[in-house]
Amino acid sequence: MRYPRKTRSVQLLFPVVATLAATLLGQSGSAAAQERAGKPPAAVKKMQDSAMKAMETFMAMPADKQNAYVKQKQKTSMERGEAVFNDSKLGTNVFSCATCHPGGKTTGGSVPMSKKQIPIPSLQGVAATFPKFKIGNDAVITLADMNNNCIVMFLNGEPLKTDSQKARDLAYYVASFSQGVLYSPGKQGN
Ligand code: HEC
Repeated sequence: MRYPRKTRSVQLLFPVVATLAATLLGQSGSAAAQERAGKPPAAVKKMQDSAMKAMETFMAMPADKQNAYVKQKQKTSMERGEAVFNDSKLGTNVFSCATCHPGGKTTGGSVPMSKKQIPIPSLQGVAATFPKFKIGNDAVITLADMNNNCIVMFLNGEPLKTDSQKARDLAYYVASFSQGVLYSPGKQGN
């Protein structure tokens, strides 16, 4: 690949970023634009470095180690997610997710909400319907947001930070009830 002269040093300093910028901008991208693309804010640079380091470590592993590494990460996240799902101390009442959605299914009961009885849904297949619009949030929400809805409404608990490990583990476990289901984001729900 050919670079305009001025950006050669940028390419050397930030090989990946500069290559990415050049790829995205094409050969015709201006030198100024490429230089800007090569100089992220310090906080962003830190995130880039951390991601690159993790990827480099991973790429240095033999293929069978890579597989085992990913499987192990998935397994531990799934186990932690299952524990969160069954944790009656997640909120402030005695309920856990499993109280109403045992094993990802439904008790068959219903809960009072805005003067109506709302049937407790099974969670099988529901992850494949997110993101979707929810009336109560007045927004298109993700599965992690929906899990938080239940924490707030039914566990009387503080919502989890959606980028926290706990929220991700819970979303991973809840999503596992939808394995093999056709992905249909936005499928009707309210
Ligand atoms: C007291 C019973 C109850 C508990 C406890 C409860 N839920 Fe729910 N859950 C419901 C009801 C009722 C709905 C339907 C509400 C709605 O669609 O707005 C629902 C909906 C959901 C949905 C969306 C289903 C869909 O069709 O879109 C998900 C995902 C979900 N719950 C996950 C969880 C998780 C995770 C927990 C634990 C943090 C939890 N729930 C705890 C009763 C409960």
